[in-house]
Amino acid sequence: MCGIVAYIGKQEAFPIILKGLKRLEYRGYDSSGIAVQKDGELNIFKKQGKVAELEAYVADKDTSGTIGIGHTRWATHGEPNDVNAHPHGSGNEKFALVHNGIIENYAILKEELITRGHTFKSDTDTEVLMHLIEEIKSQQDCSLFRAVRLALNEVHGAYAIVVISKDNPDELIAARKSSPLVIGIGKNEYFCASDATPIVEFTKNVVYLEDGEIASLSLKDGLKLKTIENQEKTPYIQELEMKLEALEKGGYEHFMLKEIYEQPRSIQDCMRGRLSLSENMVSLGGILNYKDKLVNAKRIIVVACGTSWHAGIVGEYLIEELARIPVEVEYASEFRYRNPVIDENDVVIAISQSGETADTLAAIELAKSRGATIVGICNVVGSSISRATHCGSYTHAGPEIGVASTKAFTAQVTVLSLMALMLGREKGTISDERFSRLLIDLDNIPHKVESVLKTDAQIQHIAEIYKDSPNALYLGRGINFPVALEGALKLKEISYIHAEGYPAAEMKHGPIALIDEEMPTFVIATQDASYEKVVSNIQEVKARKGKVIAIVTKGDKDVKGIADHVIEIPKTDDMFVPLIATIPLQLLSYHIAVMRGCNVDQPRNLSKHVTVE
Ligand code: AGP
Ligand code: GLU
Repeated sequence: MCGIVAYIGKQEAFPIILKGLKRLEYRGYDSSGIAVQKDGELNIFKKQGKVAELEAYVADKDTSGTIGIGHTRWATHGEPNDVNAHPHGSGNEKFALVHNGIIENYAILKEELITRGHTFKSDTDTEVLMHLIEEIKSQQDCSLFRAVRLALNEVHGAYAIVVISKDNPDELIAARKSSPLVIGIGKNEYFCASDATPIVEFTKNVVYLEDGEIASLSLKDGLKLKTIENQEKTPYIQELEMKLEALEKGGYEHFMLKEIYEQPRSIQDCMRGRLSLSENMVSLGGILNYKDKLVNAKRIIVVACGTSWHAGIVGEYLIEELARIPVEVEYASEFRYRNPVIDENDVVIAISQSGETADTLAAIELAKSRGATIVGICNVVGSSISRATHCGSYTHAGPEIGVASTKAFTAQVTVLSLMALMLGREKGTISDERFSRLLIDLDNIPHKVESVLKTDAQIQHIAEIYKDSPNALYLGRGINFPVALEGALKLKEISYIHAEGYPAAEMKHGPIALIDEEMPTFVIATQDASYEKVVSNIQEVKARKGKVIAIVTKGDKDVKGIADHVIEIPKTDDMFVPLIATIPLQLLSYHIAVMRGCNVDQPRNLSKHVTVE
């Protein structure tokens, strides 16, 4: 999910790759590494932490060589440490590989390889692919290119990879599926990287690898391209129009905007290998050993803070509706000091992007000491919370750098949706027909999120109108109530506008007193079970001359007739509306904050890791 840089040519590879990895730092990562080939030797240098630490580590080492591969890792399988960092060498130490993405079937492949005598140094899925390539190469006595191609036919998942060999100083092999990879064509040299940022200062001629393509980059034989099914392809060389200055943050003005736009991809990554339409099943590998505990739980208690707590409330609706298990959602900070009634029949789900939130960790320890089973939903692999739980599911959203959580929230909701479906199926609380329909709907969410992102210009226009409001109200009902809470939190965090989220019907019990012609009310008014009630709530705001900005289902007529502005989102099952309805609210907050001149990525007084209570 993070970065790859590779080089073959006449120049020293290490400094070019190191500089390239630094250019990719905006993608976020937890460790880095570089392998260079020289005189029939492969030297691999890797280090947990920043690229600068790798640089310091090699200061007194010989890094010379004119062919090499480099990587910044964002751990998905195995905690971030020196051993799990890439490149990964083969068992016979003849080859090295860097990989971005996830090999879904790594566990089965690993088991098979172990029975055939392979031993592994790391916990990564990547090392499994390296050993598979090595095995095919020696069994078939074929070229490395063919071995890589055949191995890729056996793996499922997402990958961008580059492989080098100790014995061949004249070839880099690169391939991709679902993770990006660009090849730069210089004079007597080739570059390869996750995006063009590390390449652009050397050459403007690039080839974007397509999904399912594999390339050989050789100074002798040039650039050769095939599909992994072995069809020849002609490389399509394009000219880069990028300017160096525009490259930071992948061309986006802020990390937050980049992360909002990554959501079609991050939701997809979160479902990868867990939802299968063809097999009509959902499976969360990380909790399988504790599935019975969950299925038989007397109740589930969710502990979390901030945005993760909002995801927990969405989870409450999902799990109660689909799996009929009672769910309580608690602020971790309250739970830990409340002497809660909890025992070994309870399951606690702890949700945390960072996996380091002190209050959530303390709540886990307390629940554990009372015998409860703890399930984690974290984004950061190897984080304190992921280690403190009995089992869990990573959200695989990739690094989130903006302090305001966006893609981590939708990934948390995605995991909770998968969990609710899995439990519902297991308990028999949803019909086969509904299960299959929900699977199709969930699988479609990334496309729908993509289409909502296309309404950004309209959202920007609305932001312009309301950017100076001192207050804002957010309303939603049912499963969209936490969406209202999250919308309000996003606005206050980054624009410093006072905002409140409420269940729509609660408005008349208090906040309605705030409504006047200055007050914007953002309402989630999609066509679901509470639609008519929400329309009435909108009427109540309009009767007091308030301004209404409504998020509606595409084609809606009723709300369009009364609201001041509507933002249309595609239809999906009621259960998954939060995954889509959240997106325009994130964009609104972002634009308003930018227009007010706020530091959106690092809002005042906030921290990405709240490690104090
Ligand atoms: C989100 O935008 C906030 N910055 C904050 O509420 C955050 O969600 C909270 O601190 C919990 O963090 P965690 O998910 O890393 O545990
Ligand atoms: N799945 C691999 C790992 O955990 C690659 C992660 C990445 O894309 O950085 O090592």
